[in-house]
Amino acid sequence: PGEPLVDTYGRVHRDLRISLTDRCSLRCTYCMPEQGMEWLSRTSILTTDEIVRIARICAESGITTFRLTGGEPLLRRDLPEVVGRLAALRGPDGEPVQIAMTTNGIGLDRALPELEAAGLARLNISLDTLRPERFRDLTRRDRLDDVLRGIAAAQASGLRPLKINAVAMRGVNDDELVELVEFAVAHDAQMRFIEQMPLDVGHTWDRAAMVTREEILDALAVRWDLTPVPGRGGAPAERWRLGDSEHTVGVIASVTAPFCGDCDRLRLTADGQLRNCLFSNAEFDLVPVLRGEGAEADAAGVDGGVDAVLRAAIHAKLPGHAINDPGFLQPARGMNAIG
Ligand code: GTP
Ligand code: 5AD
Ligand code: SF4
Repeated sequence: PGEPLVDTYGRVHRDLRISLTDRCSLRCTYCMPEQGMEWLSRTSILTTDEIVRIARICAESGITTFRLTGGEPLLRRDLPEVVGRLAALRGPDGEPVQIAMTTNGIGLDRALPELEAAGLARLNISLDTLRPERFRDLTRRDRLDDVLRGIAAAQASGLRPLKINAVAMRGVNDDELVELVEFAVAHDAQMRFIEQMPLDVGHTWDRAAMVTREEILDALAVRWDLTPVPGRGGAPAERWRLGDSEHTVGVIASVTAPFCGDCDRLRLTADGQLRNCLFSNAEFDLVPVLRGEGAEADAAGVDGGVDAVLRAAIHAKLPGHAINDPGFLQPARGMNAIG
């Protein structure tokens, strides 16, 4: 316990994504079927005590960023408490941790003051289109206005950098990329375009329909001179400066230019499974050590059970995903359940 989380390829893990629920207020076509799915049962979802217990051990082992995801994290009722208790964690030398959240923005305007007060530091908001009818077709919900209110609240808040994520999709929003960047700039946010990955519950991903990094850059180059920003670290996004402004745009090219070699992240599903990769099918079950017999930390407060599962997950991490290999198998769960 307390040792850094280094895998067999030398990658040091600093980022834990915590899925707080598999439910969502939208039904994006690249994620979920229209009718939703069989949700995790209430009792299988980790309690806030359980999440904090796992996160504390991660922080003591060098995890510095906790990103709350879903499904839609705003659907979790005790979200401010989760944020507040995670924000109070400290690293091995007493250094603070950072709490970030990825959200679809619905209800964010109402929730944000309390979340900011609880210690939330950063927000990434998903927005694939600015056109109401497209938004309705893509997410199967007529809620663009709610999302825009959420983004306005984020802009008004002190949380920076603020990022807006869009999955680029052929024939859906690939004619809107310049507009989306202009929208983000106007909201003091960094626009990021994402290559669509094979993560939808319905397994409908089609490589030919994917808008690639090169196509995204070509579309933006019509409007701006793009200068690469060096120093990406373990971040999934490559960034470019827009003309001579201080604004940047990011591209997350997980399929055509994977960042697996620098990956520093781990994931915790809402039902207590650790995953060492978005695309791995292996899950490392924390539930027995959390809820099984003798599950409490020992008298000295040493939580050997959680730590052992954590290290097993790190040790088993493969060098990269296999999306581009023949015979690639999509993970059994969708992005909404993985986080
Ligand atoms: P930052 O710390 O702000 O860079 O967050 P992030 O980009 O890691 O998080 P976000 O939730 O905003 O995710 C945006 C996109 O990043 C997702 O749609 C994925 O495409 C991609 N992404 C995040 N984590 C992983 C990962 O572990 N593997 C791969 N391949 N892609 C990931
Ligand atoms: N491919 C790429 N990105 C996806 N997201 C959800 N599903 C996929 C997919 N199949 C994005 C969401 C959100 C981020 C967390 O992941 O749009 O911005
Ligand atoms: Fe909800 Fe995100 Fe899935 Fe869209 S991609 S349905 S916002 S979990």
